[in-house]
Amino acid sequence: MEIIKVANAEEGGKKAFELIKEGMKNGAKVLGLATGSTPETLYKEMTTSDLDFTDMTSVNLDEYVGLGGNDDQSYRYFMNDQLFNKKPFKDTYVPNGKAEDLAAECKHYESIIDSNPIDIQILGIGQNGHIGFNEPGTPLDSLTHVVELTESTINANKRNFEKVEDVPTRAVSMGIGSIMKGKKMILMAYGEAKADAIKGMVDGPVSVDLPASALQNHSDVVVIIDEAAASKL
Ligand code: F6R
Repeated sequence: MEIIKVANAEEGGKKAFELIKEGMKNGAKVLGLATGSTPETLYKEMTTSDLDFTDMTSVNLDEYVGLGGNDDQSYRYFMNDQLFNKKPFKDTYVPNGKAEDLAAECKHYESIIDSNPIDIQILGIGQNGHIGFNEPGTPLDSLTHVVELTESTINANKRNFEKVEDVPTRAVSMGIGSIMKGKKMILMAYGEAKADAIKGMVDGPVSVDLPASALQNHSDVVVIIDEAAASKL
């Protein structure tokens, strides 16, 4: 893992953007994208740049079950709002959280990943070490699946909802195995609340107890963190 320390999320967003720009110059065509607060500075860099994404495809990590693109708490809405409405892509994929047959949706989404191999995967990390919505205990070779969200994740995400009861309890998420298919990983983390997860990811054993530790088995991982997230390394 290559670790790049930055002063703050703004600098981290700029660094990640440089890596994407370089990747696109070298032929990258598919970006794996994440939601949450961590990548917001990266998306700001992308939308204010003059880089053209109309030849690019994006594949998002996850979506809440029960929410669709018109729900402003859905990840599809977030992505449209933060990035795609401002910087059009050729194709953008986000799991369909409103699919009637969720098992079929998971299979279909995995086939999308296989037909659009991800060149650069953007990742955040949960306080419990989750990547995507792969909570502790998720098999490291898992593919796209329906996830029961843990209390810790529901609490961390409640800021976007009126009350905690409104936070969906399930999500469709790319699995750890799906994520690991990507050619290059860029994981960003800011703030002290992420310090334990970063320590476990970098120095801990590879274990289902900390899903991001699986990245130790990937040959091209760049970790962009601020001092606070790096404070336990
Ligand atoms: C979101 C996702 C999650 C987040 C993680 C960190 O698509 O996959 O793994 O990256 O929960 O969230 P933030 O960035 O809000 O701290």
